[in-house]
Parts: sequence; C-alpha cells; structure tokens
Amino acid sequence: MAHLFNPLTIKEMTLKNRIVMSPMCMYSCEKKDGKVTNWHKTHYTSRAVGQVGLIIVEATAVTPQGRISEQDLGIWSDEHVEGLAELVRLVHEQDAKIGIQIAHAGRKSQVSGPIAAPSAVPFSETSKMPEALSADQVAETVHAFVSAAARAKQAGFDVIEIHAAHGYLINQFLSPLANHRDDGYGGDAERRYRFLREIVDGIRRIWDGPLFVRISANEYHPEGNSIEQYVEYARKMKDQGVDLVDCSSGSVVNYPITAYPGYQVPYAEAIKRQAGILTGAVGLITEPAHAEEIVAGGRADLVFLARELLREPYWPRLAAKALGHELAAPKQYTRGW
Ligand SMILES: Cc1cc2nc3c(=O)[nH]c(=O)nc-3n(C[C@H](O)[C@H](O)[C@H](O)COP(=O)(O)O)c2cc1C
Repeated sequence: MAHLFNPLTIKEMTLKNRIVMSPMCMYSCEKKDGKVTNWHKTHYTSRAVGQVGLIIVEATAVTPQGRISEQDLGIWSDEHVEGLAELVRLVHEQDAKIGIQIAHAGRKSQVSGPIAAPSAVPFSETSKMPEALSADQVAETVHAFVSAAARAKQAGFDVIEIHAAHGYLINQFLSPLANHRDDGYGGDAERRYRFLREIVDGIRRIWDGPLFVRISANEYHPEGNSIEQYVEYARKMKDQGVDLVDCSSGSVVNYPITAYPGYQVPYAEAIKRQAGILTGAVGLITEPAHAEEIVAGGRADLVFLARELLREPYWPRLAAKALGHELAAPKQYTRGW
C-alpha cells in the first residue's frame, strides 16, 4: 500500500491520507470585507472532491491591517464566522478535513493606512515604512491571534495553522533581520521567540485540537535564522503543545534562492528527526513517486502541495493510479474514476 495514502491521526482527528492542500491566498474578497465568497466555496470544495485529505484555507487576517491585500480573507470579526462555517460544512460534506491559516502580514501588508512591524524597518527599498509596535500593541496583536483561533474553533475547523513564515509579522519577530527591538520581544533568540510563544500559549488555552505552525526554516541570509535555529524553535513549539511544523523557507528579506523539486524537504526532515515533532514538507513537490518517497522514507509526515493542486485538483486520483493504490471515488463519479 502506498504510504501516501496511509491515514494519520493527530489528537482526535484522522486524516484519510497524507496529501495536504497548502494555504494559498486567493485575493478574492471583492468587497474588501474579508468574507468568504462563492469563489472560496467552489475552489476549496473542488479539492475535497479530488480526495485531498486536508485542506488548509489561505492566510486569513487576524486584523484588518494584518492583511496582505484588501482582498484577503479575514477572521478579525465575529461577522466572519458564518461564511467560514459554511466553508467547513461544504468541505466536510465531501469527507475531507479542513484547517485555516491565521496570519498577520506586518511590514509586508499592502493595505492603505499605517502598517506595523516589530521595528521601523521596511521590507524593501520600495516598501512602506512600518510603525514599530508598542508593548501594548504587541499584547493586542497576541490577543487578535487568540480571538481568531476562537472564531476558527467556532466555525468548526479541524486544524489551526499559525503563519509564522514568509517574512510576515511572526517571522519578523523571530528574525534578527527584521527585529531590532531592545525590549523583552527582541535581542537574543529566546526573546525573539516570545511573540510566537505568547500566541501559542494563548491559543492552547482555548483550542485543544491539532495546531500547526508554518515556518521559514532558512532565511538564506548570513545574519538570518538558519535551520539549526529552527530546530531549537521547533523544540520549544513541541514543549508548548504544537502538533506539527510545516516547513517552508525564505521571503523574510529579498535574497536570491535556488528552488528545485523538494528543496525544502531537508528542513522538514531535520526538524522531524532532531526536534521529534511531526512535520510537513512543501515546495515544488509534483510527482507522486516523489511525494511517496518523502512519506515512506519518514522524511515528513504530510506532503503539502500548492501550485500543482491549482493545475490539477484531482491530483490524489492521479497519484493513486501512479502508485498502484486503489482510491475510492466520490460515489457520484464511480463510473468515470
Ligand atoms: C497563489 C499562491 C498563494 C499563496 N499563498 C500562501 C498563503 O496564504 N500562505 C502560505 O503560507 N503560503 C502561501 N503560498 C505558498 C504555498 O503555500 C507553497 O508553500 C509554495 O507555493 C510552494 O509550494 P508549491 O511548489 O507546491 O507551489 C502561496 C503560493 C501561491 C502560488
């Protein structure tokens, strides 16, 4: 049997296979209100029909200023719960699990008005100058993440993923390249971790379901965090009750990187082995045999696919055929599967 189609149980949740739809912003809230639209319902449900085991809804903003763009999904208000709950119901009807990535863009936000970051350091020469968060604002932002998680719980999500990658706000706190603070939230690695620590602790007080954290395990800069630092951070996450580390990389600063199929898998492997926590591998994984090798080889527990699932929402069917696994069709499709 193909390992890619082995179930995985995390807490009370059992995933029917190891195939995850990686979070992808759809920039489809035309009314700029952060609410779920028909596009989201069709888009995510299609991948559930395609037999993806776990779908992670795109970066969803915990505050309006934490959006990347004004078309982002939001979870900063109770008014967002109804649409998100509908999305959960639709995906559950197709027998898939669904998670949500909660996010704050920090200095990478492109919304109008002031934007915030750990320090007044812009992302690039052409980016807007962010305002450094005061201690009170840091506490308010931690609270915004926890309130977002409470709404995700209310909406019925199976998984909450904290977006701590790609140079967005949490990553800005973690990285010495963006965090120049000299209070309790900046300085050494432990203090730079404090913002994420408080978010995880706060969420763990109200959510006992599966909790994932997405990280940028390499900042590809001589003065940035490396995988060794992230193994340390992953150990802390594990101690705090995080269930899985989703291992991406880069985008903290504009720094050239060489990407090739599976280029981030070694990060998932290192963290899994050295921190003893479940991991997800992501990045240019498109071939069924490659995905199978990652899971079968114990290099990661879940395989996240992004662009390949945009091109081919029924990728699990193709993978099953390629790996000689008999994958049950949705009953409506049995004549054509
Ligand atoms: C259109 C698009 C939107 C994305 N939005 C997000 C996002 O909301 N959150 C996130 O963590 N990564 C996001 N990503 C990154 C993907 O989740 C994934 O890590 C990356 O595309 C590499 O995987 P792939 O080679 O399978 O596409 C996005 C990627 C694409 C192509």
